[in-house]
Amino acid sequence: MEIKKAEFVVSNSDVKKLPGEPLPEYAFIGRSNVGKSSLINMLTNKKNLAKTSSTPGKTQLINHFKINDNWFLVDLPGYGYAKTSKTNRKKFQKLITDYFKTRKNLVNAFVLVDSRLEPQKIDLEFMEWLGKNRIPFSIVFTKADKLSSSQLAKNIKKYQQKMLTRWESMPKYFITSSQDKRGRKEMLEYIGQLNKMVKDKIK
Ligand code: GTP
Ligand code: MG
Repeated sequence: MEIKKAEFVVSNSDVKKLPGEPLPEYAFIGRSNVGKSSLINMLTNKKNLAKTSSTPGKTQLINHFKINDNWFLVDLPGYGYAKTSKTNRKKFQKLITDYFKTRKNLVNAFVLVDSRLEPQKIDLEFMEWLGKNRIPFSIVFTKADKLSSSQLAKNIKKYQQKMLTRWESMPKYFITSSQDKRGRKEMLEYIGQLNKMVKDKIK
C-alpha cells in the first residue's frame, strides 16, 4: 500500500468523543519513549505529523490520523511511564484500556517494544490483557538501527522464546527503524491486506 494522504483529525482525552466514522482503525501502543510517534511519521513519510520527543510522556492524548481517506491510524499515550505521578499513570492507564474496550472498528493493535531490551513484564502483561479482551495485535520491534544485525537477531529470538512460554505461537511481528525506515513496506502491506479483509465488516 502506498500512503498518498495523511492528515491529523483530532486529539482526545475522552473516549466518548472519538471519531464515529466507520473506518478500519490501527492503534500504536507501547511504553513511553519506545518510538510510537516516530514510527507513525516514518510510515506516513511525514516528519512532524505525530509529535515526538526524547523525553518520555510526550503523547498524552488519543490522536487520530486519517490515511488515504479510508483508514485511521491512532497514536496513543505510552504506558508505564515511571516519572509521572501515580494519579497521572492511572489516568493514562484508564484512557488506554477505555480506548481498547470502546473501539469496535479497531482492526489491529501494534504493540511496540524496544528491540534493544529483554522482554519487559509490562509489555508481556499488556499483550495478555489484549488477548483476554480478544483484541488482535502484532509486535513491532523498534529502534533496530541501534543494534548490530547479530545482536538484533539474538534479541528477537529471545523474545520469541519468551512469548512461546505464554502463547501457542509467536504473534506476527515486524522489525523496524524510524531512522533507516526498515519494516515500512512490510507494515503497510499488512495494513493493506487487513483493510481488504475487513472492508465489508466495519459499519
Ligand atoms: P511517548 O509519546 O512519550 O509515549 O513516546 P513515543 O513512544 O511516541 O516515542 P517517540 O516517537 O517520541 O520517540 C522517543 C525517542 O526515541 C525520540 O528521541 C526518537 O527520536 C527516538 N526514536 C524513535 N524511534 C527511533 C528509531 O527507530 N531509531 C532511533 N535511533 N531512535 C528512535
Ligand atoms: Mg508519542
